[in-house]
This record gives sequence, C-alpha cells and structure tokens, in this order.
Amino acid sequence: MPNTINITKPTVIIVFGGNGDLTKRKIIPALYNLFLENRLPEKFAIIGTSRTEFKDQKYRDLLLDGINEFSRTGKAKKEDWAKFSEKITYQASNIKDVGSYNEFADKISDYKKEWKEDISTLYYCAVSPDLFCTIAENVSKSKLENNRETTRMIIEKPFGRDLESAKTLNAKLLTIFDEKQIYRIDHYLGKEVVQNVMAFRFANTIMEPLWNRTHIEHVQISVTEKIGVEDRGSYFDNAGILRDMIQNHLLQLLCIIAMEPPINFDADLVRDRKVEVLKAIRKIVPGSVDSMAVRGQYGSGWVEGKEVPAYRDELDVKPDSNTETYAAMKFYVDNWRWQGIPFYLRTGKRLFKSDSHIIIQFKEVPHNMFQNQERNIPKANRLIISIQPDMAIKFQLESKTPGLEMTLNTVDMVFDYSGKTKGDSPEAYETLLLDVISGDQTLFMRADQVEAAWEVVMPILDYWENNKNADFPNYPANSWGPENADALIAKDGFHWINLPDKK
Ligand code: BG6
Repeated sequence: MPNTINITKPTVIIVFGGNGDLTKRKIIPALYNLFLENRLPEKFAIIGTSRTEFKDQKYRDLLLDGINEFSRTGKAKKEDWAKFSEKITYQASNIKDVGSYNEFADKISDYKKEWKEDISTLYYCAVSPDLFCTIAENVSKSKLENNRETTRMIIEKPFGRDLESAKTLNAKLLTIFDEKQIYRIDHYLGKEVVQNVMAFRFANTIMEPLWNRTHIEHVQISVTEKIGVEDRGSYFDNAGILRDMIQNHLLQLLCIIAMEPPINFDADLVRDRKVEVLKAIRKIVPGSVDSMAVRGQYGSGWVEGKEVPAYRDELDVKPDSNTETYAAMKFYVDNWRWQGIPFYLRTGKRLFKSDSHIIIQFKEVPHNMFQNQERNIPKANRLIISIQPDMAIKFQLESKTPGLEMTLNTVDMVFDYSGKTKGDSPEAYETLLLDVISGDQTLFMRADQVEAAWEVVMPILDYWENNKNADFPNYPANSWGPENADALIAKDGFHWINLPDKK
C-alpha cells in the first residue's frame, strides 16, 4: 500500500494458469485498470501460460471477453485495449517440465535486450496448490532469474490444507525464495473498506480509548454469500468453508479489528501485530468444539423463483458429503485489550443475502437517566463496518427526536462511499497487484501468519473431520443458516445482526 506510486522499473509478469477463471475474472481486469490509471511501469509485459495451445491473438481475445464481462470499469475501449493488449503474449507450457521455463527465460531476455534495462520478474501461481512447489522448483532449476530484489512469487490460496501441509509448503518455498520474495494472497486484505479500518482505527484519536473490553461488548464478523459452490464442487468438497473462508479471510478481518497499533506502516511491523492476535486467540480444546463452533450444510430451496439443488446434489460433490458449507464460531483473544470479549464469526454459502460486514457492539450506558420517560431506554452504540456490497462505516448513536418531549431515537453517523460510483473504488486485486509490482508486502500473508491461522482452526478442523454430522443438510438454501448457529450466540444473550437492522 505505498503512499505514492511511481513505479518505473520494467516488469514482466508470467501468469501460470493463464487460461483459468481467476486470470480472466480478476488478474487481467485488475492489470488493465491499473494500466488505465497509469499505474503500471511503461515497460511492462504479461506472459500468459497454460497447457492449451493458443496464438497470441486468440489468447488476447479471450482476455478481452473477461475484461468486458468482469472489469469494474465496464467494457474496454478499443484504443485502450489496443495499447494494453500489445503487452500480452502467450506461451503454452508444461508446468512440470523445466524446458518450458527455459523458453520463458528466453522471452524475458528478449525483453531485457529490447528495453536495455534490468527488470522485475513476477511469477503468478494462479494454479492448483499442488503445483506451487513444482513452479518454484522449476524456476530455480531453469535459466529463469531468481534475484532476491527483483524476482517475486505470487501465491493464491489455499495455502496448505492444514497446519502440517502449510508448514511443508512454507519450508519448501523458503529453500528457494526469501520470505520477502513471496506474496501470499488473501484478497480480503485488499478490499477498500478493510484497508480503511486501519485508517479509521489509527488515524483518529477518539477511537483508541473506546477500542477495548471496557467499552466493547462483543464483535461480529460476518461474510454471507447467496451463491452455492457453483462449478467448484470438487475443490470445495475437499476443503469446506472452515478452510475456504475462516482460516484466511475471516481470521484476517479479526486481526485487523483486534491488533495493537504498529509503530509505522512497515510490512513486518504490521504483520507482527496481526500474528500476535492469532497467537492470543484462546485455543479451542476438542471437548469444547461443540460449544464454540457450529457447522451447517445447505439443502435445496428456492432462490429468486428458481429451485436450487442441495449441496450434496451439486456437480462433483459426494452424495453423502460431510463437508460444511456454513460455519459459525466464537473466539476469545486473551490479552489485556480483549479479555472476556467474544468475537463471533460466521460465513456460509447459499444464504439469504450476500453481505460482508463487521459489527462492533458497544456496551450499554452505565446508568439510564431517561428512565422516567416512556420508550426511553438508550440503545447501546454500534459501529457497523460494511465491506460489501455496501461500502460504509456507520456509527449508531442515540439522539433526541426533535419535538417538545425528550424522546430518544437511534441515528446514524455515516461515512459511505456512495458519493463515488462503485466503479471508482479499486478492486482488491488492483491494490494487491500494484503492491507486488512495487514490492510492498504489508497486505500479504507472511509464513508465520498463515501457520498461526492454521493453528487456530486445527482443533475444529480435526474434530469435524473425525466426528461426522448426522443432521446434514441442516439449513435450506436461501435461509440464514442452521438454527444452532443462532443458539451459539443467543446463549450469550446476543443475536446475529443482519443488515439493514433497525435494532
Ligand atoms: C474465495 C473463496 O477466497 O472468496 C470463495 O474461495 C468465496 O469460496 C470468495 O466465494 C468470496 O470472495 P468475495 O470477494 O466475493 O467476497
């Protein structure tokens, strides 16, 4: 997240998985929008690669379709696309064969000759995780450069499927690259409102005295999705929502809310503070999993007038699958700031609404001086951080209703992004790719951060894998999830807050 961005170093990015969904939906539209905003170095080239043979022109046409469908700025203008697409070439390759990498090296050396300058090389692993190591090894065995300052490896999630595999993967990658060359993506960290939480917390003096156990009653972090597993059944059935969403996105949101202020924006100092949060999360012991965590799997139902199948009837999902598509859990962060304050996390597929938000629920006033007035019980303050689809930070405060009586009413102090059109805010991948190009790791997961996050979820993961759930499916599509998720929070006297919520 550099403050001023003026990247002049020539850069070549090789996208493994160049014909994949992520490349078409996210990576290329993000690079294209950076290009439109003049954020890319003048000397810049993209080499897409996958097994399939394509002529450059055919490949560019495919990517253009992706931009036209998915870019936040809408369809590409002919003249802009013409300039951008000149930078794209394609090379079919066998990821497992070192010979293919030598061909990349030849291409890169041509760019060097043409540009007469040193370049940065980025390897983007937008492929299945079992190929991350193969790519790293072949980069090191081939003629491709591995310069500690200018070579970077971008790794998509999932990073491992448990603590042990994440450790193995880290160890392997770190025999080939330095930590500062590895950019492990968690795209939630690139979202505009998520980044704003740092500014909101640490650039406003009024927040710090309130941001602790004295004033906050509990925190809710909620990422609900209306979609099912779509065509990702085979990946998802081996993963489950705990691995897919909680281990990474939701725990990272928790870290941003709970972390101590870093001394400055140095990537390692920021990540140190996040790792401290993960390490402070109270370990869930096997005997307590059922009281701290709830899982669900969707059944069939109706969404917008269309019947949708149960999870077990989705493509590439086992008919007796025990994989969870919903998870809700409670964590405690055992430190001075947060002792005793519950953090509730929930996420799921095929829910009633797609909505990602964080609620900071403050405590009630210690004494109600309005109690002689009817309907005058002040509501506790609430800070609502809406990440998507709405982007806003909203403070709910109590206020006097205008009129002759002293009547209280809840009002919103709102900072929203609605003055800007949605298309004005950069997509997470734009922020993240610009950071990789400029060499800023603040928003990327460090090895110890990934491992600490796995440590948090491992007891739940193990317990769920070893103890099948007999009730699946336990929530219908288009609902708010299983009833026992409501019970999880209700037993502490709270309820899940679904926005908009009039309180
Ligand atoms: C991905 C998960 O990391 O995040 C998906 O693998 C999920 O299952 C997606 O749908 C949600 O991201 P976003 O940005 O659409 O909220």
